[in-house]
Amino acid sequence: MPAPVIRAANLVKTYRVRGSARLARGARSRSARTPSEFRAVDGLSFEVAPGESFGLLGPNGAGKSTTMKMVGAVSTRTSGDLEILGLDPDRYGPEIRSRLGVVPQEDNLDGELNARENLYVYGRYFGLPGRVCAQKADQLLAFAQLEDKAKSKVDQLSGGMKRRLTIARGLINDPRILLLDEPTTGLDPQARHILWDRLFRLKERGTTLVLTTHYMDEAEQLCDRLIVVDKGRIMAEGTPGALIRQHASREVAEVRFGSAHNELAAAQLAGFGDRVEVLPDRVLVYAHDGEAVLARIAETGLRPLTSLVRRASLEDVFLRLTGRSLIE
Ligand SMILES: Nc1ncnc2c1ncn2[C@@H]1O[C@H](COP(=O)(O)OP(=O)(O)O)[C@@H](O)[C@H]1O
Ligand SMILES: [Mg+2]
Repeated sequence: MPAPVIRAANLVKTYRVRGSARLARGARSRSARTPSEFRAVDGLSFEVAPGESFGLLGPNGAGKSTTMKMVGAVSTRTSGDLEILGLDPDRYGPEIRSRLGVVPQEDNLDGELNARENLYVYGRYFGLPGRVCAQKADQLLAFAQLEDKAKSKVDQLSGGMKRRLTIARGLINDPRILLLDEPTTGLDPQARHILWDRLFRLKERGTTLVLTTHYMDEAEQLCDRLIVVDKGRIMAEGTPGALIRQHASREVAEVRFGSAHNELAAAQLAGFGDRVEVLPDRVLVYAHDGEAVLARIAETGLRPLTSLVRRASLEDVFLRLTGRSLIE
């Protein structure tokens, strides 16, 4: 086994917060006026192997960005152990940052500059010679499929183009690890697929990818292995396939009886599969054979308004583990 490139053990980050808004989670204070501690990251332990594509999957507020900032050596941890490429970010922040590529959740491209200049200037920050920066900028524009946008100002780029440019920028120093915080949030399906394709290529070249997402399909597509995170804690860890096998059945029959009737119908479906889950708009029946469930529902005389059978997904894993849907 090669040494992990990232090793986190019991990683904790607390924020001091005022007011009562945060008292629900990890709060120590009774008074709404005194500052209290809020554990945004509450004891995460994980390792990432070289060349691996590792994901943090969880809903908004799970602590994904906070974790990424600590891994990226731009935010200090409150407690726990953290090693990036064998180095402690508390002591070796600049060394670590020079060897990572970072795609933050919010694009922070320079709006005054055009696409090519954004890459060039970033390379100069890393101390690369101008000639190297120019060469790399052109290569990376090609990689990001932005050659014809080289001279366009950032504001003129679409959301997907900005994201690709940010990824290109993160690659200027040939990083061993690329950190991607919600790489495709807010993008339309086509833009997401173009981006996924670029990330697959990086993966094929052996770049270690660490990404956060609240899209289960993205995690399934891109991650070799992932942790499911909720409220700063790890709920489960494994490959997408193993997590689904462990926490869900093979198939899911989704049936809708209308919002006023789902609850009642679900009660009649108990025992039709391994498990029945009632959501506000539909009933999910987990079973090895979803079509067989639909057939049995029809035999019973129940008439769903709509029905479909699908393979179980990470969404089902999350629902099982937390009782909530991944996207609220
Ligand atoms: N600088 C900060 N000060 C106080 N609370 C913060 C700060 N940054 C994030 N939080 C809180 O920590 C929790 C986790 O945030 P974040 O790591 O951004 O989650 P995610 O990226 O999974 O959506 C949230 O409840 C968020 O409001
Ligand atoms: Mg975030």
